[in-house]
Amino acid sequence: MEQLLYKPAALSHTILTELMIPAYANFGGKIHGGIILSLMDKVAYVCAAKHAETYCVTASIDAVDFLQSVEVGDLVSLKASVNYVGRSSMVVGIRVESENLKKKTCKHTNTSYFTMVAKGDDDKPIQVPGLILETEEEIRRFMEAIKRKALKQGVQQEAKHIKTSITLQEAVQLVANERCKISSAFVPDNQ
Ligand SMILES: CC(C)(COP(=O)(O)OP(=O)(O)OC[C@H]1O[C@@H](n2cnc3c(N)ncnc32)[C@H](O)[C@@H]1OP(=O)(O)O)[C@@H](O)C(=O)NCCC(=O)NCCS
Repeated sequence: MEQLLYKPAALSHTILTELMIPAYANFGGKIHGGIILSLMDKVAYVCAAKHAETYCVTASIDAVDFLQSVEVGDLVSLKASVNYVGRSSMVVGIRVESENLKKKTCKHTNTSYFTMVAKGDDDKPIQVPGLILETEEEIRRFMEAIKRKALKQGVQQEAKHIKTSITLQEAVQLVANERCKISSAFVPDNQ
């Protein structure tokens, strides 16, 4: 079947729901962050592969802030949609919610953005269909993804000017107001 040139974002919306079993918990009784990250990667893959209709890989993950803890027995739902497409890359936005069915409460625990890249049979990135934006929310998400991309590129450009190779004297001055101490074994007596 021939690949469509453009596809509605709604066609690849994906929801993954999983029960938080005791095996997912850490010593504190809360669910491991790694379990949530793994589920996020899974739902990002399904969403991207549905849009691209081919194998995809995770190229990068934006910051993941754990806003609230997840408890054993909670039902975690991960809602994913393609927010932006480049040539071969897709930004998948994921919202994670944790529901306690007994208490009838639902909390937002994370939101993050995964950049997925579609690959061809030769393992090289291949073009994916463009995105048809059908709601104001989809337009907002697309614009926000462009903004995040520009911010990331700006930060990378700025970081190029930051010197990482410095002398011991410079290091001592730079960390003077930080909460660290350079071991006295390295600092000359007159510092
Ligand atoms: C990510 C990967 C596909 C990039 O391949 P590449 O040969 O460097 O390809 P390109 O430079 O042509 O980039 C392809 C696309 O990926 C995007 N991309 C590459 N690295 C990226 C990164 N770190 N963050 C976000 N996007 C990235 C590029 O912007 C480009 O997007 P576009 O086609 O929409 O313009 C490749 O490095 C890879 O396969 N990495 C391993 C992925 C993996 O194993 N993930 C974990 C398991 S799934």
